[in-house]
Amino acid sequence: MELLYEGKAKRIYRTERQGKLLVSYKDAATAFNGEKKTEITGKGRLNNEISVLIFEKLKEAGIANHLIRKVSETEQLVEEVTIIPLEVVVRNIVAGSMAKRLGIQEGTPIPEPIVEFYYKDDALGDPLITESHIALLNAATPEQTAELKEKALKVNQILIPYFAQRNVRLIDFKLEFGLRKDGTILLADEISPDTCRLWDAETGERLDKDVFRRDLGSLTNAYEEILKRLGGPAHV
Ligand code: C5P
Repeated sequence: MELLYEGKAKRIYRTERQGKLLVSYKDAATAFNGEKKTEITGKGRLNNEISVLIFEKLKEAGIANHLIRKVSETEQLVEEVTIIPLEVVVRNIVAGSMAKRLGIQEGTPIPEPIVEFYYKDDALGDPLITESHIALLNAATPEQTAELKEKALKVNQILIPYFAQRNVRLIDFKLEFGLRKDGTILLADEISPDTCRLWDAETGERLDKDVFRRDLGSLTNAYEEILKRLGGPAHV
C-alpha cells in the first residue's frame, strides 16, 4: 500500500478502494510539538481501540465521522477527507495551556464550555487564533467555522455523560474535521487519551497524555484503564 502521510503517532495508507484510507497507529508518544518523544509498546493498540469505540459512539449519536471500521488492533479504515487546518479544542474545566495562559488554577470549572481554535502549522507551533484570523488565513469560511463550533459542542454534550457513566471527567479535548468532495464537513482524526484530558471522577487521577507530558507514571496503565472502562477488548 502507498504510504500517504506519516505523522507523529499515525501512518496513513491509500487502499485499493477509492476514497478509503487505512490508518495505522504507532507506538510513539510525543509531546511539546515533538520535543519530548519515546516509544511505548502497546500505545498504538490502545489509541486505535479507544478511538474506534468513541467514533462508533458518536456515529450512533448522530455525529457523522470518518470511521468506516476497525481493521485490526492497531488499524482502522476511514473515509478520505481533506483535513481543515484547525484544531478545535473544547474545555469544560481549566487545565493545560489555558491554565498557564490565563493564570487560572487547573481544575477550575468553566460555567459554559469554551471552544478554541488553533491553526495547524508545526513551524508556527500551532498558535491559538480567533475567528477573524481563520477567515484571513482562508483556513475555513465563517459558515464552516460556525459549523465546527456547533459540532464540537455537540460532541462535548455526547461525550461528557459517556465518560461520566464510566467514572471519568472529560476536562478538555481536541477535534479535527475534514471536507468531503461535496463540501460537507466530517469529524475526522482521532479521539483518545492522547487528545483528551480524562480525570478519574473520584481521585482526580490523570488517565491521559499528561501522564507522559508530566512524568506522572505509566501511560500504558492509564490508557488500559480508559479502554477497560469503555468496555474495550482485552489484549490477546
Ligand atoms: O495543551 P492544551 O491545554 O491547549 O490542550 C487542550 C486539549 O487538546 C488537551 O486535551 C490536549 O490533549 C489536546 N491537544 C491535542 N493536540 C494538540 C494540542 C492539544 O490533542 N496539538
